[in-house]
Amino acid sequence: MSAKPLGVGLLGLGTVGSAVGRAFADRSRRIDAAAGRPLKLVAAAVRDPKRAREAGEVPVTADAFAILDDPEIAIVVEVIGGTRPAHDLVLAAFERGKHVVTANKELVAKEWNGLHEAARLARRELRFEAAVAAAVPVVAGFRGLGAVRPRVLRGLLNGTTTYICSRMETGKSFDEALAEAMAAGYAEADPTNDVDGHDAAYKLAILVSLLEGRHFHPDNVRRTSLRSATAAEVDGAASRGRKIRYLAVADFGEKATKARVGPEEVAAGSLEGQATGPTNVVTLESDLAPHLVWSGPGAGGDATASAILGDVIQIARAAR
Ligand SMILES: NC(=O)c1ccc[n+]([C@@H]2O[C@H](COP(=O)([O-])OP(=O)(O)OC[C@H]3O[C@@H](n4cnc5c(N)ncnc54)[C@H](OP(=O)(O)O)[C@@H]3O)[C@@H](O)[C@H]2O)c1
Repeated sequence: MSAKPLGVGLLGLGTVGSAVGRAFADRSRRIDAAAGRPLKLVAAAVRDPKRAREAGEVPVTADAFAILDDPEIAIVVEVIGGTRPAHDLVLAAFERGKHVVTANKELVAKEWNGLHEAARLARRELRFEAAVAAAVPVVAGFRGLGAVRPRVLRGLLNGTTTYICSRMETGKSFDEALAEAMAAGYAEADPTNDVDGHDAAYKLAILVSLLEGRHFHPDNVRRTSLRSATAAEVDGAASRGRKIRYLAVADFGEKATKARVGPEEVAAGSLEGQATGPTNVVTLESDLAPHLVWSGPGAGGDATASAILGDVIQIARAAR
């Protein structure tokens, strides 16, 4: 094993960043063995350096450019979220010759072309396995399907809406189920991103972009809010042995791809119907590989850290 450690810097040390920090503290031998060389978590940039965190022993700074300008850091992991300042910071990382790993579905979905072009010009890697379905290696899976003609992609890509749907099956209204989701830590104070379908649309747009090899913008995904779901619809579905789930669907027609996210009926016994929380399900129908299914934990710090570290390890292996 090469003795020189490859440096990793974090932008963000919240739910996901802290889980990455703990993984470096807990399992560095495993990570180094997988990478074929030592990896070192050098530092993390945060908004408030005084905040207490459970993130291993990583040094923190309030200056994101201290991470970007650190010559010891070769791989920048962006786990801030949103487009500002994440977009500028990722572009600045490429300009400084860093590889970038991000969990940021909004950024990747909206800025697909610019980010890929920046990576190409810098001759560095852009990886985002964690941006879709967290620990489920669906981005890697889709990258391996370049030769197929996709027909239909169906996904359960947002755990908050799955949780709300499953609570509505117990007789709760949408508002009551949403309040429960917030109390359980599934939904954020502003639940718009989840219940109005932006989050699922970003992830669906990324998956379609991967399959089509070109940018499919999330604005092209038709969104129906889960707020429109009623207890009567949930009961009606149950009487037919079905359940309501917040589905992401892409139909790859001959001429144009149609993509939508919204509440739809699924068979109660299907993987989607059985999911009650952060479990994600992705099903792909294509010509050469008729029916492929991925399923597993699609949210949470540790599950997302697993995907991020998988990307970091692959970059390190390629850079040996
Ligand atoms: N949570 C999940 O289950 C999950 C799953 C898959 C993907 N993701 C994605 O992962 C990303 C991070 O999510 P998260 O849940 O970890 O978010 P989070 O808990 O809100 O953490 C965000 C972190 O970014 C830091 N930050 C904010 N603005 C900053 C700035 N200008 N400069 C430096 N640091 C800044 C915050 O600092 P302070 O701590 O000082 O406030 C915080 O540490 C998002 O793109 C999200 O969509 C999350």
